[in-house]
Amino acid sequence: MSHKTIEIGWKAPANIALIKYWGKREEQLPENGSLSITLDRSVTTTRISFREKINETDELSLEYYFHGQRHPAFEGKILKLLHRLKLEMPFISYYQMVITSENNFPHSAGIASSASSMAALALCLTSMEEQVSGSKMSKDDFYRRASGIARLGSGSASRSVYGGVVTWGEIPFMANSSDYFATPYPLKKQSRLHQIRDIILVVSTTEKPIPSSTGHAMMVDHPYREGRRVQAKSNLAKMTTAIEADNFRLIAEIAENEALSLHALLMTSLPAGLLLQPNTLGILAEIKLFRESTGMDLFFTIDAGPNVHLIYYEEQREQVVPFVQERLLPYCENGLWIDDKIGTGPLLITPEIVH
Ligand code: PMV
Repeated sequence: MSHKTIEIGWKAPANIALIKYWGKREEQLPENGSLSITLDRSVTTTRISFREKINETDELSLEYYFHGQRHPAFEGKILKLLHRLKLEMPFISYYQMVITSENNFPHSAGIASSASSMAALALCLTSMEEQVSGSKMSKDDFYRRASGIARLGSGSASRSVYGGVVTWGEIPFMANSSDYFATPYPLKKQSRLHQIRDIILVVSTTEKPIPSSTGHAMMVDHPYREGRRVQAKSNLAKMTTAIEADNFRLIAEIAENEALSLHALLMTSLPAGLLLQPNTLGILAEIKLFRESTGMDLFFTIDAGPNVHLIYYEEQREQVVPFVQERLLPYCENGLWIDDKIGTGPLLITPEIVH
């Protein structure tokens, strides 16, 4: 038996959904299809080092560090995922594992940190699977497997294993789409979406009062559940038509409708979830005014939190950044904003045999 310690690391980005996944069934399967943009700079870096156990027990052996410190809450989440994975990835029981993770942006503040962290972890586990089995998967199989594993940790994480525009959920008109894993969206070479940018306006870094798992659960007997399913299906079809036709007004209109609908669903849940803050609404009003006065195609979207993503295109940057600095930063916590853009997806940090 070999007792080498092997370390594998992945950097995985956050993503921002334009069509929101909201509500789930069974083992983390979505009630509706979703579509997102993978970001570039907002990333989680995760490393797993593993070594065969000396004693043969099938108890999981894990130490988890977040920014260098043990973090019992996150460790609990990861253990929950690993327990779920025991059947699918039986090898995890036979190794001592140490996982370290770092985010370069505030976690639990509605900036999809669970997406980047679960995607990075799933990629590490899939690489570990290749290492311990000694057999390499095809590139397609590798990412599909990682996406399915990431989905079990956090639904939106399934999309973060790919770069560019990504969908998740079975969509009748999309080849290879599935409820079990995400699929990269085939953007045309000349599409303007390749130069999409995202300024994240951080209204608050405080941990959000309603975790998304609670939000999804509130959809089960939500009075608008069926309406939401119909709306998401129709918005997704319209969004892909708009993307194919380079209809940027329509992309903006649907994305904003999705963001506001998500919060409307939250507010009409029982108990009600109110995550928007006065400064969130202040930012939305400013964006609307700016768009009306300049005629630009920029738009906003919001995840399950108070922070606003201002989506625009590279060629508008010279006008957009001064607008953000003058008009929007006063609404942000300590003037905090994240300057991000569409990204190419996760990055492997070379596997290493430590000793
Ligand atoms: O992946 P979860 O369970 O954290 O849910 C994410 C839900 C939204 O971020 C609000 C929408 C989405 O599709 O990313």
